Amino acid sequence: MISFQNVSVRYPLGNVALEDATFEIEDNEFVYLVGPSGAGKTTILRLILHDLIPTEGVVTIDDIEFSSKKFNKVAELRQKIGVVFQDFKILADDSVFENIAISMEIKGYPENEIRKQVEEALSLTGISNKKMLFPAQLSAGELQRVAIARAIVGNRKIILADEPTGNLDPKTAWDIMNIFKKLGKSKTILFATHNTDIVNSMRRRVLVLKDGRITKDNKKGGYKQ
Ligand SMILES: Nc1ncnc2c1ncn2[C@@H]1O[C@H](COP(=O)(O)OP(=O)(O)O)[C@@H](O)[C@H]1O
Ligand SMILES: [Mg+2]
Repeated sequence: MISFQNVSVRYPLGNVALEDATFEIEDNEFVYLVGPSGAGKTTILRLILHDLIPTEGVVTIDDIEFSSKKFNKVAELRQKIGVVFQDFKILADDSVFENIAISMEIKGYPENEIRKQVEEALSLTGISNKKMLFPAQLSAGELQRVAIARAIVGNRKIILADEPTGNLDPKTAWDIMNIFKKLGKSKTILFATHNTDIVNSMRRRVLVLKDGRITKDNKKGGYKQ
């Protein structure tokens, strides 16, 4: 479970990125984070990654508090989390297979386990036939599939997606959404977006942010601007 208790992030010049956010997310829950640009969506994702420390409040995952500067198990924490970005962040000089396998290789997983998990992720994202290709040979939608496959291998239980369909045409965005739908059965997913159609395509919990405040927590899903 992910828990935020009265979490605020304020920058030195008075910029407020998040103000008094309190919410809990259960294991295998799917949550949309919505709100206009600057609302605080990325800030929430960065706090979960311990990429940012709150000015006030407490962030915990599975009852481990890691919101203090002293937290020293960042690598262990991140091992649970996969991240998907709007701009894919795929390594240009590595093949699709290698891009997906790399985190497991660094972690020292055995070769056969890496192969097994990468093949599963390729199949789930529908790119098994692309595994020997290089990023320059892929479309934007295919690159995002590689990024999703990379985010799930290594037994990750939480997936943070930061506007993953932001650079895709509507049809491709829909295909990517369907992959997240499948993933939602076995992983906790936080999906930041400002695309109302995407949010309403699948009835899942919606946290609405505005100017750093959570203005709505709609457990039944659906969102009107
Ligand atoms: N490093 C920073 N310094 C100052 N302000 C920042 C910094 N990072 C983000 N912010 C501010 O925090 C607010 C929330 O940003 P962010 O979480 O990126 O919003 P979103 O992802 O919803 O577009 C914005 O007003 C932004 O300008
Ligand atoms: Mg953002």
